[in-house]
Amino acid sequence: MFEVFEKTESQVRSYCRKYPVEFNRAKNAELYSVDGERYIDFLAVAGSMNYGHNNPEIKAKILEYLSEDNIINALDMYTAAKEEFLSTFEEKILKPRNLEYKVMCCGPTGTNANEAALKLARKNTGRMNVIAFSGAFHGMTLGSLAMTTDRTSREGASLPLTNVTFAPYDGTLDSIAYLKWILEDDHSGIEKPAAIFLETIQAEGGINIASVEWLKEIRRICTENDILMVCDDIQVGVGRSGHFFSFERAGIEPDIVVLSKSISGFGMPMALLLIRPDLDIFRPAEHNGTFRGNQLSFVGGTAGINYFVEHHLDQEVQRKAAIVEKFMQEEILPLDSRLSYRGMGLMWGIDFGAVNPAFALEAVHEAFDRHLICEVAGRKDGVLKLMPPLTIPDDVLNEGLSIVKKAVIAVLKK
Ligand SMILES: Cc1ncc(COP(=O)(O)O)c(C=O)c1O
Repeated sequence: MFEVFEKTESQVRSYCRKYPVEFNRAKNAELYSVDGERYIDFLAVAGSMNYGHNNPEIKAKILEYLSEDNIINALDMYTAAKEEFLSTFEEKILKPRNLEYKVMCCGPTGTNANEAALKLARKNTGRMNVIAFSGAFHGMTLGSLAMTTDRTSREGASLPLTNVTFAPYDGTLDSIAYLKWILEDDHSGIEKPAAIFLETIQAEGGINIASVEWLKEIRRICTENDILMVCDDIQVGVGRSGHFFSFERAGIEPDIVVLSKSISGFGMPMALLLIRPDLDIFRPAEHNGTFRGNQLSFVGGTAGINYFVEHHLDQEVQRKAAIVEKFMQEEILPLDSRLSYRGMGLMWGIDFGAVNPAFALEAVHEAFDRHLICEVAGRKDGVLKLMPPLTIPDDVLNEGLSIVKKAVIAVLKK
């Protein structure tokens, strides 16, 4: 079994090692293996399937588009599909939130968009250094990797990762005092940054949730010091937090927002920068890329936004969040007083750090044996991360949660 993969595919493959079956079908929050076994999905392709696998309303639009000879790929030429996406995004997402941004279509990965944000922040300010936070994950290409903290990922670079200063994230040491010291002490020895990059909820970092006060304070620091605030909403945007943008809960406006993963609606590659209009200074082609015009992503993205609005997905997520939180309090915490949990919207983590961080990965295996797909995150991979599609039906959510409980009980018994 898996002979072709083991013989042919690079060692770098990773998720397949946690879920060693071959998949072929998927529907909403359920995956199926080639031998017909059903698995509940609490991973959602790392946050790129917020609307569920094969969402029928989005799929219908894509099939309709495919059924005629509509253009599929078009660099950044003007197309009908892009026009519809941009106007829908403007009318249904930006305007109701009083947000004014220019939309930049980047190469189709999150990390490419973060590279674009880095370049744009540096170009606008003429400064090289940027600040990122402990626990950050911004991607695997060299600029984004320089802002990513986990050792394993950084070791892949094999060269110095430079021009980034790390500050403690909210909840670690006195984050704000440290930032102020960097900026105010003319002997701090740290160059004034072009930008502060942050995730309002660190996903890969272990479901660390920044407080509203901290986010507002960062916004204030950026404004007062003429530093750009960049919000990486690649994983926690598009409804994951219970709002379309994760920063909405703090009532702040970042200068640049980075989106990818679920923005294409259907799991297709797409990444965008939202740019404060006066910062939109790249010359034509200064951040180019062949795959910035995947029309199926625009069609899926438009259908996704319509789905979000018509189904009040933000409110749905907040309702389901209450189900998960109740489960954490009533079913998980009583299992062991050293367990803790964190979460918001439909992104939750059970922290095994105080028991034994290795238990989180063991819980992933125990869950998989019971046909639930979930992941680890955070320091020493010690957090069991639960992130279903936002469209998961209540009964499947509850079924998945009961498997989580069984998996946790199984590892605690060991
Ligand atoms: C917050 C965040 N930023 C950036 C990335 C990188 O995106 P991609 O894997 O599409 O390059 C990820 C991926 O998980 C992410 O979660």
